[in-house]
Amino acid sequence: MRTVRRRGRGAGRCRAWSGPCVDDVRWSHVAPGPGTYDRWPRSLPSPGRGEVGRVRHSVRPMRIGILGTGNVGRALAGAWNAAGHEVVLGSRKPDETAAHGGNVPVVSTEAAVAAADVVVNATPGTASLALLTSVGAPALAGKVLLDVAVGFTDAGDLSHLGESLGEELQRAFPDTRVVKTLCTLDRLVMIAPDSLEGPSTVFLSGDDPTAKDTVRGLLHDLGWSPDSVLDLGGIATARGQEHFSLLFIPVAQAVGSYRFGLRVVRLSEDVPQSYEEARTAAEAAS
Ligand SMILES: NC(=O)c1ccc[n+]([C@@H]2O[C@H](COP(=O)([O-])OP(=O)(O)OC[C@H]3O[C@@H](n4cnc5c(N)ncnc54)[C@H](OP(=O)(O)O)[C@@H]3O)[C@@H](O)[C@H]2O)c1
Repeated sequence: MRTVRRRGRGAGRCRAWSGPCVDDVRWSHVAPGPGTYDRWPRSLPSPGRGEVGRVRHSVRPMRIGILGTGNVGRALAGAWNAAGHEVVLGSRKPDETAAHGGNVPVVSTEAAVAAADVVVNATPGTASLALLTSVGAPALAGKVLLDVAVGFTDAGDLSHLGESLGEELQRAFPDTRVVKTLCTLDRLVMIAPDSLEGPSTVFLSGDDPTAKDTVRGLLHDLGWSPDSVLDLGGIATARGQEHFSLLFIPVAQAVGSYRFGLRVVRLSEDVPQSYEEARTAAEAAS
């Protein structure tokens, strides 16, 4: 197992997913090459060919416009493209990033939004509002905005402490249906949950039930079974998802990899479900 120590900066401060990074993570199965761990590794196997090549279509084939041609945008684009959806990547500089798309066309941010039923925000959380504002509320009206982003300051702290980017976007674009999801997971886990040792949980937050159903379908097309998807409630619950990054990094440090999942497990049904039930059972047994 190779141990890679991140260069420079203080403990817990770097630009993983445009934010904090694992110090001293053992990149046992990542290790794309020495050196550049300031960002999430870019030279990982390209998704969309073979490993996620399943056509699922739990929702009708959708037009998906993914904003951001970085790690997450490209991973999701490959996976949904392989699942049979019509996907484009939206970039600020499509001429320069055209090669990032692989099989997926790279177009301007505006064109990606215009063509989409579902817009995916895979941009740095500190830049998302400005980018979407430049596209304009009318262009986004009525669309589902699947928001994967988390904002981090240059110092590596959460930029939306005490609230969330998801809520900020919903406030700014009231006619757009924001659904926060996937941001508690590494991008390779997002698109290959079956690669984990056991079942994991992915969360949904959003005010519009129909939009959440659409996103549920798209999660299924990434490999997430229905019982892996936990609807937390309205968009205010995006706070918990985004603040999970405070736990994500220490867990990654502890297990030596970003590629892990957490599972929400309930009390099994054959044990008392409440204190009252437990007391009644104890009294009956005595
Ligand atoms: N990496 C992960 O595994 C992971 C996991 C969970 C959540 N997230 C969140 O998902 C989002 C994307 O993460 P990522 O790792 O894909 O980031 P990334 O590799 O840095 O890519 C972000 C992309 O956003 C676009 N962008 C738009 N406005 C930008 C701006 N002002 N500055 C920089 N880029 C801008 C860029 O694409 P163009 O140049 O083509 O416009 C850029 O490639 C982040 O909010 C991150 O916190 C990431």
